[in-house]
Amino acid sequence: MAQSDDLIQNYAARRPISKEYFRRAKQVLAGGVGHDLRNFVPVPMYITRAQGSRKWDVDGNEYIDFLLGNGGMLLGHADPEVCDAVTRAVANGSHFGNDHPLQIEWAEWINRLVPSAERVRFVNSGTEASLLALRLARAFTHRSRILRFEGHFHGWHDDVVHGFHPPFDANGSLGVPPQVRENLQLIPDGDLNRVADVLSHDEIAAVILEPTGASWGRVPIDVEFLRGLRELTERHGVPLIFDEVVSGFRFSPGGLQALTGVIPDLTCFAKIVAGGLPGGAVAGSAAIMQLFDVTGDAQHDRFGRVVHFGTFNASPPSAAAGITVLRRVSTGQPIEQANRMAELLRRSWDGVLDRLGVAGYVYGDASVFHVYFETNQERISDAPNRLALRTRDAKLLKGMPGQLITQYQRHLRFRGVDIMSSTGGLLSSVHTEQDIAEATAAFEATVSALIDEGLALRMV
Ligand SMILES: Cc1ncc(COP(=O)(O)O)c(C=O)c1O
Repeated sequence: MAQSDDLIQNYAARRPISKEYFRRAKQVLAGGVGHDLRNFVPVPMYITRAQGSRKWDVDGNEYIDFLLGNGGMLLGHADPEVCDAVTRAVANGSHFGNDHPLQIEWAEWINRLVPSAERVRFVNSGTEASLLALRLARAFTHRSRILRFEGHFHGWHDDVVHGFHPPFDANGSLGVPPQVRENLQLIPDGDLNRVADVLSHDEIAAVILEPTGASWGRVPIDVEFLRGLRELTERHGVPLIFDEVVSGFRFSPGGLQALTGVIPDLTCFAKIVAGGLPGGAVAGSAAIMQLFDVTGDAQHDRFGRVVHFGTFNASPPSAAAGITVLRRVSTGQPIEQANRMAELLRRSWDGVLDRLGVAGYVYGDASVFHVYFETNQERISDAPNRLALRTRDAKLLKGMPGQLITQYQRHLRFRGVDIMSSTGGLLSSVHTEQDIAEATAAFEATVSALIDEGLALRMV
């Protein structure tokens, strides 16, 4: 497509240094980048500095940042208090391999804020958190099979790599032994009868989900479904695991569970919990978390426990950053501010779609936003207005054409806006009305270009 080629050329022309880095990267980095989502044509982004709500690449291009370290930087980049806490921790020795006082204080903050957290175990990422939570649930129930929901993302380890990206019944990655699938029951969310049926007829070890709905709310979920899930899992003695890697300390100081009152048995955390440094945690009921306990009884300690190591678990800089951020989160103020700006962004961007008559809508809760572009001509023809296009179908919401998404991201980046993934992003407590105004102008130019390119469709 000619317009798309023009954009790629213009985009590349403003990034000569990035181009040179990409040339070097391809020689040494497997796949050319460090994360599948960082692949980008014509060149990946090479960021050298970030401050508050903004970041700059090696070519000096400035971006309003709605990626925020994949959702970890609730207070924005390089918050002075966080930097100070981390600097002090590093100056005292960045890593001991021993426990240390900051780890205990960090766990105390999590226990104070999160309703279900009676005990905490630290890990290094969200992937590690879901891996450990599933192991705990399997150990607790002496069962193997996991009930998961289509579209929900829990990281990249074997048990969770299938089923988050459409087509949901296809393998998620090469290299996963086929028997892993035998321990996976994958169904659409939202249907309690279906869940009841699975729990009645199958030996399920755990039910895990993103309680916001798949991909931090891209596929919204009903709180009634969460309540029903809690009731059913309790009735069947199956641990319920909330993956609050994104929603934790973002949707409320105590996560989505505090907001809804639906209390899981285990919760996975990462991102904000570690204040923007590497880190994660599993929190849960003492009854399950006692599976880590060492009793002194040789038989129990060798065979009756869940084993968990990890060189960098609760590393001092991550603990220092985590404590600083959780203390601030506990006031409620950063979340309120981020939510307010996200609401303004959602309203402004939806207003753009409305003005341009685009078949789509902007949505999201708390401090996240998602944009849905309807590309099914039949659904557009049948809909009396834009609002009637609203859907909770994961196949639609996670199935927008790849070309549309890539071009949307490219136009936004070209105009100085970076988002998280697909069409959505997250806000921090330091985004301003000025940021939203500039981002809205970039969004309007992006959507206009997508209409011209035939990628975004208009209502008929
Ligand atoms: C809901 C959810 N769970 C788990 C993960 C995996 O976390 P990590 O990338 O730290 O391994 C992510 C990452 O984005 C996530 O969004």
